[in-house]
Amino acid sequence: MSELPHVVVHVAVSLEGATTGFELDLARFYALAQTWREDVTLVGADTILAQEAALATVPKPGPAENGPLLAVVDSCARVHSWRALRDAGHWSGVLALRAASTPKGAAESSERLVVGAERVDLRAALAALAGRGASTVRVDSGGALTGALLAQGLLDEVSLLVHPVFAGHGGHHRWFGPSHPPARAFTLAGNETIGDLVWLRYRASG
Ligand SMILES: NC(=O)c1ccc[n+]([C@@H]2O[C@H](COP(=O)([O-])OP(=O)(O)OC[C@H]3O[C@@H](n4cnc5c(N)ncnc54)[C@H](OP(=O)(O)O)[C@@H]3O)[C@@H](O)[C@H]2O)c1
Repeated sequence: MSELPHVVVHVAVSLEGATTGFELDLARFYALAQTWREDVTLVGADTILAQEAALATVPKPGPAENGPLLAVVDSCARVHSWRALRDAGHWSGVLALRAASTPKGAAESSERLVVGAERVDLRAALAALAGRGASTVRVDSGGALTGALLAQGLLDEVSLLVHPVFAGHGGHHRWFGPSHPPARAFTLAGNETIGDLVWLRYRASG
């Protein structure tokens, strides 16, 4: 097994590359997300926090025996809905990725992995996940986590589900994060028209 897993981000975007401020075709988005059958879904804390209210009201069938592991980058211990995430029926378990500086909170219902001093060290986190047997990691991010992975050369594949809309003022987040990632070439791995959506897949070159 390689030192790092294959890392793919699958993201729904508007025409200007925003991830927020427009209505996503959620059914299509999650159907396409099955493509990779990932071992680990890697999610940023802000993405989880944006879903917490909705998470409280959805059915909780319990862990999905054959589902991926949910790993949440959460250096500041902001996420509290671990039990609800574990029981949401999508994941086999939940793992909080922490840094040494992460505040020690009350007892949590999640496994923890400490990687990094001040902030989660993403390369070390991916290496640790590979060490636990993960070969594919799918990233679910509104941009900040994706941008950090791009900046460190850790993203192998980009999947964009383009929606025919400009998000306008509501589209504060870009899929590649708040700053410009370093220049890097990608090669087209797939393109498909699905109704009025376009699904684009690119692999990092070299
Ligand atoms: N359209 C879509 O497909 C889609 C998908 C997902 C989410 N969303 C939306 O996007 C919004 C959230 O997006 P977001 O960009 O604010 O947050 P995000 O993608 O969830 O990323 C935030 C996470 O990235 C971590 N991070 C950022 N830079 C880092 C670095 N250099 N090293 C280590 N960790 C780093 C942060 O760590 P810390 O723990 O240290 O803060 C935090 O946990 C929500 O509104 C959500 O609904 C849209």
